[in-house]
Amino acid sequence: MTSHTAAINEHLALEFQASHTYLAMSIWLRERDLIGFSSYMLNKSTEERGHASKFIAYLVDSECKVQLPTIESPEREWQSVKALFDKVYEMEKTVTKSINNIYTLSEQEGDRTATAMLDWFVGEQLQEESEARFVLKRLRLADSSAAALILLDQQFLDGTLLANVKAGGAFDVAGAGGGAAV
Ligand SMILES: [Fe+2]
Ligand SMILES: [Fe+2]
Repeated sequence: MTSHTAAINEHLALEFQASHTYLAMSIWLRERDLIGFSSYMLNKSTEERGHASKFIAYLVDSECKVQLPTIESPEREWQSVKALFDKVYEMEKTVTKSINNIYTLSEQEGDRTATAMLDWFVGEQLQEESEARFVLKRLRLADSSAAALILLDQQFLDGTLLANVKAGGAFDVAGAGGGAAV
């Protein structure tokens, strides 16, 4: 096993743990009737499992042994929605760091198949961190206003809250104007 495939095997734990934690968060939010936030977290939980599957597919295709990790029971209580999102942001930054590390190892080994696969994850992590930062800022603005929290919850349900949060944000010309000449 090369060092980058060993690192991918270790990385699987982070993706599965994130999936499990987001599921716990989805439950916590649902218990508080924050249905929009809760379904966002449920989707994220599914997404993280998908990320683990992408890495597993890479390992299988590369004829490397997959070592499935033990997943610990996730945290189940948070002081506030903001504290919960602090945790989301912290987890995503840890995942980004691990992916950057795998990338560096793959480059050192000159493995282009690995770096091509990892390019998708680099973009994905940029998006994930942008989203978490955006929601955190909104929660900071909301302070502890229940009305503001309910509005954010509704925007999650409508799909409008994060509609313009993506890599490049408002500065993405193609996203803003469809790339058409004016
Ligand atoms: Fe992920
Ligand atoms: Fe993620």
